[in-house]
Amino acid sequence: MSSSYRITLLAGDGIGPEIMAVARQLLDAVSQRHGFSLTYNEQPMGGAAIDATGEPLPASTLEACKASDAVLLAAIGSPQYDSLPREKRPETGLLGLRSGMGLFANLRPVKIIPALIDASTLKREVIEGVDLVVVRELTGGVYFGQPKGRVEADGQVRAFNTMAYSDYEIDRIAKVGFDLARQRGSKLCSVDKANVLDVSQLWRDRVEALHAAEYPEVELNHMYVDNAAMQLVRAPRQFDVVLTSNLFGDVLSDEAAMLSGSIGMLPSASLGSDGPGLFEPIHGSAPDIAGQDKANPMAMVLSAAMMLRVGLQQDAAATDLELAVERTLAAGFRTGDLMAEGCNQLGCKAMGEQLLRALEG
Ligand code: IPM
Ligand code: MG
Repeated sequence: MSSSYRITLLAGDGIGPEIMAVARQLLDAVSQRHGFSLTYNEQPMGGAAIDATGEPLPASTLEACKASDAVLLAAIGSPQYDSLPREKRPETGLLGLRSGMGLFANLRPVKIIPALIDASTLKREVIEGVDLVVVRELTGGVYFGQPKGRVEADGQVRAFNTMAYSDYEIDRIAKVGFDLARQRGSKLCSVDKANVLDVSQLWRDRVEALHAAEYPEVELNHMYVDNAAMQLVRAPRQFDVVLTSNLFGDVLSDEAAMLSGSIGMLPSASLGSDGPGLFEPIHGSAPDIAGQDKANPMAMVLSAAMMLRVGLQQDAAATDLELAVERTLAAGFRTGDLMAEGCNQLGCKAMGEQLLRALEG
C-alpha cells in the first residue's frame, strides 16, 4: 500500500471553505496516526473559479483532479451566479467535472446514527435501523441528454431537455448496484418510470437482463419513482441498495438524507471505471449561512472518510473519522441544523475542534 497520496481539494463556494478546513485538520491528524501522508493541491472550482478565471471549471483544475489519487470537494454555487449564462454557472462546472473524470457512479449512503434519531422529522419507529445506499447514475440521463435548449418561434418560447440512456450506460451503473448489493443485504430496488417513459423501459429491461445473467442471487424489485418517493418516508427499512438514474437519484437522495435528521450528515462518492474518485457531501453551499461559522462540517468529514475507505483503501483511518463523528454526537455536541434540547450547540470551527478531540481521545 502506498504511504503517500496526492489529494486535490476543491473548497468551492459558500460554506465550502469552512467545512473543508475542518476536514483537512482531521485528515492531517488521522493520516499521521495511521502512518501515511497526504499532500494537498488546492484548486479553484465553481463560483470561486469564476471569480478567479471566468470559468467554473478551469482546464487546470480538471487536469489536477485527473492527476491525483482522489478529489475532495466541499460545495459549489451561490445565487450571485444564477443569472450567468448556463455554461458559465458553478453547477455546469460540477457537471463538467463529473463527466470529465468519467464519474458515472454516485454512491450516497444513508445510515441512521443512533444519537440523531430524534433529530429526524420522522418517527423513531420508522427510521430506526435504516441503512441504505442510493446508487445514482451521474454522467447521463436528462442532465446530459441532447438535444436541449431554448427556442423562440411564432411568439412562443419553448425549452427542452432529453432524457436518454444507452444500454451500456445502464449496464455499467446496474453492475455497480448489484455488486454493492452483494456486499450488503443482497437486495436491489431499481427505480424508474417505466409506466410512462421509453428511457425507463430500456432501463428496466437491461436491469432485468443483467440480473438474470449475472446476479440471480440478489433480490431485485422495480419501483416507479413516485412510489419510491412515498416508500422512502413510509417504510425506509425496506431498502438496501436503491439503483436509479441521474435526475431521480438527485431528488430521492435529498429525500433519503432527511431520514438521518439533516442533509448536513450525508457524504457521497463518485466513481468511474478507473482513475481517481470524487468525494463530496451531498448538501450544497448553503449561501444563507456562509461565512458565519454555523455550518455542519460532519458530511464533509464523512466524505473524507469515504475518500479514505473507497478511494485510498485506508479502512482503519476511515473508521476512526466515522467514530469521531459518532462520539461527538453521542457526547451531545450539535451544530444548529441538528440542535435539540439538552444538547450543546457549536459553530463549525468549534465542532471541528470537538471532532479532533474525539479522534485523539
Ligand atoms: C447534487 C447537486 C447537483 C446535482 C447540483 C449542484 C448540480 O444537487 O449533487 O445532488 O443536481 O447533481
Ligand atoms: Mg442534489
